[in-house]
Formats: sequence, C-alpha cells, structure tokens
Amino acid sequence: MYREKIDVVFDDGDSILSRILQQQQSDASRAETLPPEAYNSDSFFRLEEDKVFRQDWLFVGHESQIAAVNDYFTLDVVGEPLLILRNEEGIAVFSNVCLHRWAPIAQGSGNSRSFVCPFHNWTYNTQGKLSGAPSMNQVQDFDRQQCSLPKIRHEVVFGMIFVTFNPHAQSIAQRLSPLSERFQRYHFADLVTAYTLDYDCPYNWKMAIETFMECYHHAAVHRNTLEDSFPGRLSSIKDDGPGWTICHQPLRKNGELSEILTEGLLPFTGLNDEQMRYSELVLLYPNCLLSLNPDRITISAILPISTTATQWHRVVLVSQESARQSDFSQTAERMKHGSVAIIDEDQWINAEQQRGSRSRLARPGRLSHLETTVWHLANYLKTRMAE
Ligand code: FES
Ligand SMILES: [Fe+2]
Repeated sequence: MYREKIDVVFDDGDSILSRILQQQQSDASRAETLPPEAYNSDSFFRLEEDKVFRQDWLFVGHESQIAAVNDYFTLDVVGEPLLILRNEEGIAVFSNVCLHRWAPIAQGSGNSRSFVCPFHNWTYNTQGKLSGAPSMNQVQDFDRQQCSLPKIRHEVVFGMIFVTFNPHAQSIAQRLSPLSERFQRYHFADLVTAYTLDYDCPYNWKMAIETFMECYHHAAVHRNTLEDSFPGRLSSIKDDGPGWTICHQPLRKNGELSEILTEGLLPFTGLNDEQMRYSELVLLYPNCLLSLNPDRITISAILPISTTATQWHRVVLVSQESARQSDFSQTAERMKHGSVAIIDEDQWINAEQQRGSRSRLARPGRLSHLETTVWHLANYLKTRMAE
C-alpha cells in the first residue's frame, strides 16, 4: 500500500496536489493519510488558501459573543483582518483594514459605537462608514461620505457566524440543514458564552483538526485524563455528509454521569438517557470544530496563519440557566482550567507530529477505523481542490 515518496521538489504544491488526487476515496478500510509534504509545503498551503479557504464558508464565532448592540470582536482569517459586530440592524462583518494606510482599525473585543484607527485617527461607525478623517480638507477629490469598509458576506446558522469571500458559495444554512435536529437538541439558539480561549498552535491547521476529530490518541496522549472516562477504542465514526463528519465519543460502560457532566452546570433539557452518556465531535468543513456534550458545547474556529502556524479560537457555551447559577464564575474558571490541561497534551503531540512530518523519510501512514474522520477531511480537501 505504501507509495514511494513524492519525487518532486519539496515545495511544489501542484505536484503534491496531483499525487493527493490519485489517493483512493472510496474504501475507508484502505485509507491512508495525506502525504507529509501536504503539512510542510508553503506552495501547497497557498493552494489550500485559494481553493478551500477563499471559496468555502468559514466559522468565525458565536452570536452570543456579540449579544448587545455595538459589541464587537476581531480576528484574522487567511490573512484578512475582520471586524465582526452587532449594530442596530443585526450582525455585520467588515474588513478591519483602514482605508488610509491599512492598519487594522479595531483590536480584540469589546463594545464601541465607533472605531478609531490607531495610526492617524480615521474614524469609522458601526455601519463601516468613514465618519472622521482629520486634516484631509486640502485633499482634492476626497469625499469621506463615499468611503466604507468592504463588507464580507456572512450567514448565521443556529447562532454560529460563518463568513465567505466567495460571492457564489451555496448557502451554508442549506448545507447544514440535515444537522438541525442535532443543533436543536443542544439548544443552539439559546446558548451563552461561558468563556473563550485563543491560542497559537505551532503546527499545520489540518493536524489541529485531525487530532480533535479522533479518539484513537486518547490511550496514549490523554492516558491520565480523557482515556479513563472516554476510552478511545469505544469511539465510532458513522455519520458523515458532504459538509461535515462526526466522531461519536461514548462514556465508558458503567461510568458515572458525573464523569461526563461538569459540576455546577445543568444538563440540557430534553436529552434521553443514552444522549446523556455521550459526546459528539463534529467537523463542519473546513474549519469549524464542535464538541457537543450533555451540559456544554465547545465551538472552535481553526484559523490557518501559515504552513506551520495556526490560531485556535475556542468558544465554550452553556445554557442560560447554567449561566444564572450563583457560583457560575467559579464553574467557568474550573472548566477553563480543565480544558487547558487537555489542550496542553494535544499541543505537545501535534508539535512533535509536525517535527516528524518534516522528515524526508516520512511517508503516508495507514489509518485505523477509529480515524476515519482524518480520511474524511482528506477527501473533502481532494474534492475542493480538484475543482
Ligand atoms: S492607517 Fe488608519 S488612519 Fe492612517
Ligand atoms: Fe486530544
């Protein structure tokens, strides 16, 4: 099954792509990984940016992060600084690049009725219109009324905000509609943000997603944490579609509910006994990761920065009743602490994986049935990149 090493210059993205397109996509039991070059080539990364990230829908955050009028947050998506805000009309997404000399206008998150560029004080309102530009009165043919930040197309699906740079992309709401029952089950429309976590990952974006989407690594990487209650060998992958794939992660047999529930949170109402005993890991291609648990939801935006650098934007959501509990701030603090411990374990192994994948001796590896989601992501990429 192992093919020869790609016989090309290390950084030839087109050759890597043509080799990838020859990998079979029909039989999971014959699945192998993408070639390691796909995680190390700058020119292949640029192809991914052009053919995937600039064409498809990208998750950027949850509407509860900007619950009040004038709330905003910022992030960079494939090199595009974005300003995501709520104005009187609802949610809007703008380019966060000043029309003067390109400094990003807003930083971080907060609540503001206007945004003043930190370079020369040009000022924009929440409609994206330039409302002030000092000392520009001697400039010919400059009409600030005509100046607006470019607006980015977006859709909100069950509270999740998606953007696309492709004016022709098919509606994401339509694509995700087969998952609506699942989103309703976890009360997606009524969730509130418990906390957010942003961190840098020193590895390729696909490694971040693949590791999140399989439990095969629990027995090694998380042997002292997740593996006890969620043994990787019990996980299963059976439910994928053109826009997503799902890994089912059950609680161990005879495990206590306290092992899956978080002290201080109330479980979502309406879940049956079986639904109380599993979590689901969902990938909405290409960059949205969800973890659906009986009492909390994690939604992550995986934001590629370069071939070996990725930004992870993580939002943890709970029900409004949970957030109203008197000790909620301590509960949120404890949850954050617990997830950082697991994140550190994954950060370490993914950085190691990146290091190993640079080897000229590394080849595509065979995948366990517990890793079919890794193959699903590869197949999604092949389909998008063949277009
Ligand atoms: S770059 Fe924004 S005001 Fe000059
Ligand atoms: Fe992990």
